[in-house]
Amino acid sequence: MGFTYEGICHSKEREIEMNMRKLWSGRFEKPLQEKVQKFTASSSFDKKLYKEDIKGSCAHVKMLSKCNIITRLEAAHIIRGLKEIEYEIEEGLFDPEAYEDIHSAIEIRLTEKIGPLGGKLHTARSRNDQVALDEHLYLKKEIQEIIELITLLQQALKAKGEEHEDTVMPGYTHMQRAQPITLKNHLMAYYYKLERDRERFQDCYKRTDVMPLGAGALAGSSFPIDKEFTASLLGFEKVYENTLDAVSDRDYILEFMSASSILMVHLSGLCEELILWSTKEFDFIELDDSHTTGSSIMPQKKNPDVAELIRGKTGRVFGALMAMLTVVKALPLAYNRDLQEDKEQLFDVVDTVKGTLDVLPDVISMMKVKTRNMKKATEKGFLDATELADELAKKGIPFRKAHEIVGRMVCYCIKQNKELKDLTKDEINYFLDKRIG
Ligand code: ARG
Repeated sequence: MGFTYEGICHSKEREIEMNMRKLWSGRFEKPLQEKVQKFTASSSFDKKLYKEDIKGSCAHVKMLSKCNIITRLEAAHIIRGLKEIEYEIEEGLFDPEAYEDIHSAIEIRLTEKIGPLGGKLHTARSRNDQVALDEHLYLKKEIQEIIELITLLQQALKAKGEEHEDTVMPGYTHMQRAQPITLKNHLMAYYYKLERDRERFQDCYKRTDVMPLGAGALAGSSFPIDKEFTASLLGFEKVYENTLDAVSDRDYILEFMSASSILMVHLSGLCEELILWSTKEFDFIELDDSHTTGSSIMPQKKNPDVAELIRGKTGRVFGALMAMLTVVKALPLAYNRDLQEDKEQLFDVVDTVKGTLDVLPDVISMMKVKTRNMKKATEKGFLDATELADELAKKGIPFRKAHEIVGRMVCYCIKQNKELKDLTKDEINYFLDKRIG
């Protein structure tokens, strides 16, 4: 196929040759079996981290030069090479998938471009602290985006609530009509649940905002590095105190997945209600055509697929949390290759949560509320029973007794097929006198 960009050859032979290249072949007499190579490689998914990897490497190189471990000129060459590689990956001119992982891909490509000087990039660094750094950088950015998306959903809920300050509907406990509430009150319950979700992500951000670079493989570095300097270049609030902890810690990922799982609990609950409310049985809302789909056989169908999918996708977020807890459970210190299994789960949770938060605000703001049906539903089912008991209690009847009186009234009404408000004065007095008697 020849060359497409500055000497990058895309021929098959070249790809196979590159495939064989590793960062660690010196100690080995045999190459990896091809299937083992495939089994152990992570580039197919960790290539997602190329921007973070390059950002981290540039800061690392600046620190090496500041600490006189490499010269300023060397640093400048390396950084220029890294920036070019970033461009190549962005434009699809260089594919990191042919390598063991994104870190190897970039370093090998750098050496190809700038010669043996590329080999100085990895001074005072291991892939163990490097991969942890990439993940911290990635998740910091994603958490911030998720927090913004949560805020947008809260705004949609609040705006819809404000439109329906006076829309009365049944409130439920045990899925039985309980007491009348307003739609605003109902929607704002989710607003406040999301407020706690936001706080959980903000809190988890603090533990993500800690820099692991400089921990080396596990025991730090014999070079006179300046971790605080690298941290300030990368915008980290803190540096890990302990190097073994730095390379093995995945707590921030567990916390992120827990916060995501709780968020999905809330969103799946909200979606469950949207699904129920849009049934003919409830008939409280109509979801917008642009958020529903039809059936290939039943012409009348209008299905709430978006809400159903959010409810369904909750499962994969919980699953990722379970998978991740299991991956880190009982791992000895410090880095173990098991930890490579964190990335696909993490990326999936991020994509699922962001995708969900992206579609949901419009579903809320564009749904049509059938206010009359909501109001009508409050008229049957004795939703005023508690209030009546409260009224009696306010007149001096002990609440427990008032509860019993109204309970008898309800029982009578059911038999008479009427509502509490239909009771005549005589009927009411009968129940009250019965108490006195
Ligand atoms: N791909 C590896 C991971 O994701 C990078 C670190 C590899 N370290 C090692 N010692 N093999 O965890």
